[in-house]
Amino acid sequence: MSGIESDFTSLEAMPLSTYEKAALGGNDPRCIPQHLDAPPPMCSEIVYPNYTEEEHQIWQTLYRRQAELLPNRACDEFLRGVEMLKLNPNRIPSLADLSNVLESQTDWCIARIPGLLHEQDFFKLLAERVFPSTDYIRGKDELGYTPAPDIFHDVFGHMPMLTNRDFADFYQLFGKAALNAKGADRTAFGLIETPKGRRIYGAGTLSSATEVLHSLSDEVIVHRFSPEKVINQDYDVWHLQPILFAIESFEELKQGFYDWTRSRGLL
Ligand SMILES: [Fe+2]
Repeated sequence: MSGIESDFTSLEAMPLSTYEKAALGGNDPRCIPQHLDAPPPMCSEIVYPNYTEEEHQIWQTLYRRQAELLPNRACDEFLRGVEMLKLNPNRIPSLADLSNVLESQTDWCIARIPGLLHEQDFFKLLAERVFPSTDYIRGKDELGYTPAPDIFHDVFGHMPMLTNRDFADFYQLFGKAALNAKGADRTAFGLIETPKGRRIYGAGTLSSATEVLHSLSDEVIVHRFSPEKVINQDYDVWHLQPILFAIESFEELKQGFYDWTRSRGLL
């Protein structure tokens, strides 16, 4: 079973995940998924690290570059989420503060995790409405794209959409369904058709300058969203995404995914 048409894969015939393949290829040790050996610090328990000035500058460079690109490219729900989170363009944010905002908006909270999580640990947290976030930032040489998560990807890419009720509910459903079958998250590169034109909501796209420009270019083939395509094994974290999926609304994403997973006995 492979390719973008693939469905949820049963746990018995479990192929390697995207990240496991990257790790096996010796590409990057950060792509080796880790298991949590103890409950991670959550919400106000998360301590703010002692970031260096250089690290704040990396945040500033990444933030400014994305903020400039996103008007008329990111969907309104994402842009509203950025405002709600009150991100400071010049300083790496506090996960505890962001967790407070998410709690007040959609009852999600944040856990601080040490790096890429094993998928089952990751999905288990999503199923509990907990978003696992790293707190370290990429190096200066990876400003364009990093295949492993860092705080810029986790905060800027993922958290704005988690302030939207429909998306936040969908993401919890996704976690619950994914616990029962193995798959990757295609919404990380998701598009939405709006009255103002096609816009981006995917975290993998919105935290990468090259992906933002690529995903709205003629180089991609855009298919209409269907629930089975939300989850897919075989995207490649190392290259730009050639095929993307567009929804019409976040209500459609949530309801369509809910009906489909129920019909497959995955919830
Ligand atoms: Fe992500």
